Amino acid sequence: QVTTLTAGAIGKDGYRHYMEKELHEHPLVIGQTLQRMVDPATRKVVLPELPFSLADVPRAVITACGSAFYAGMIGRYWLEEIARLPVDIDVASELRYRNPPLDRHSLGLLISQSGETADTLAALRALRQTAVHILSVLNVEHSSMARESDAVLGTVAGPEISVASTKAFTAQLTVLACLSIATARARGHLDPLREEELVSALLDLPTRAADALAQHDAVRAMARVVAEARDVLYLGRGSLFPVAMEGALKLKEISYIHAEAYAAGEMKHGPISLIDSSVPIVASAPHTPLFDKTLSNLQEAKARGGRLLVFTDTKGAERVSAIAEQMVVLPHVHDFVTPILQVIPVQMLAYEVAVLKGTDVDQPRNLAKSVTVE
Ligand code: G6P
Repeated sequence: QVTTLTAGAIGKDGYRHYMEKELHEHPLVIGQTLQRMVDPATRKVVLPELPFSLADVPRAVITACGSAFYAGMIGRYWLEEIARLPVDIDVASELRYRNPPLDRHSLGLLISQSGETADTLAALRALRQTAVHILSVLNVEHSSMARESDAVLGTVAGPEISVASTKAFTAQLTVLACLSIATARARGHLDPLREEELVSALLDLPTRAADALAQHDAVRAMARVVAEARDVLYLGRGSLFPVAMEGALKLKEISYIHAEAYAAGEMKHGPISLIDSSVPIVASAPHTPLFDKTLSNLQEAKARGGRLLVFTDTKGAERVSAIAEQMVVLPHVHDFVTPILQVIPVQMLAYEVAVLKGTDVDQPRNLAKSVTVE
């Protein structure tokens, strides 16, 4: 860590870029967001009062853009798995023209760091036409989307300066995890013991996120391989598929290397033909119930000359080490919170690659922090 502060570094607290500083705020923002949503005495999720009942919502439609969309994909996974709520999800620029059939008790769930993204705001207005309940997960609480929503769940990530989102993403996931728990309870799918188990896993996250950030050297070693590549394939399954998508997006955005994310099981239906030693494969493979399946997909890639760079956890490390060229080992945590933890070094990898490539990390070409045009 650079400790000398120059005039230009003020505001970055000695970090090289805002993105690096914001990556290091993951533990803090997860903790602050949880403080708003979990009662420390009862260790239960307590959401702000909503103008509708989560028990009466028959289905939800989630929409967002960019990283917030991938947070929404993980949210869908939780709402379906834990709360047994049917969920539809689409990027805002598509949803706004799709006119999905929804009854008025449905939930429109919008996710945005800025609350100003034109496509997401337009999708909100399109959903409003169908008179569904509009609930927005926002970091900027006095934003256009906040004004037009029925209710807002705030992420407590503080200002995010770097164009590529980092800490707002884990804060969004933290809110969506709490919303999933509250929805599951309201719908009668969560007994108190299971709620305590899930909440404990969330409360453990700030410490675990700090452990993840400490894997800096292993991430940097991976970055040296990725920085030489023209194309990179990201793989993951289940709730780790959106983590792969977030990793590929981040790499494209700030290092200008072409990256594609695939559900690991789908690789054999196409991208497997791309694999050779010049295309590194970045996989998220911690020890979840889908670990064996993911590992066998990675073995297929290795058999075709693929170079495996794998994010795993202490429980999966031994088996991953047998096939991976490089790996980053995180603490093993509850399956529920695994994507929140695993995304941290995946974002850090993109950052380190961009630094090696010498790009303008905080202000990548052609991108804006908040896209207010369609
Ligand atoms: C832009 C940014 C992305 C961000 C997306 C959505 O494209 O470059 O990093 O994820 O907007 O922004 P929002 O403020 O709606 O979360």
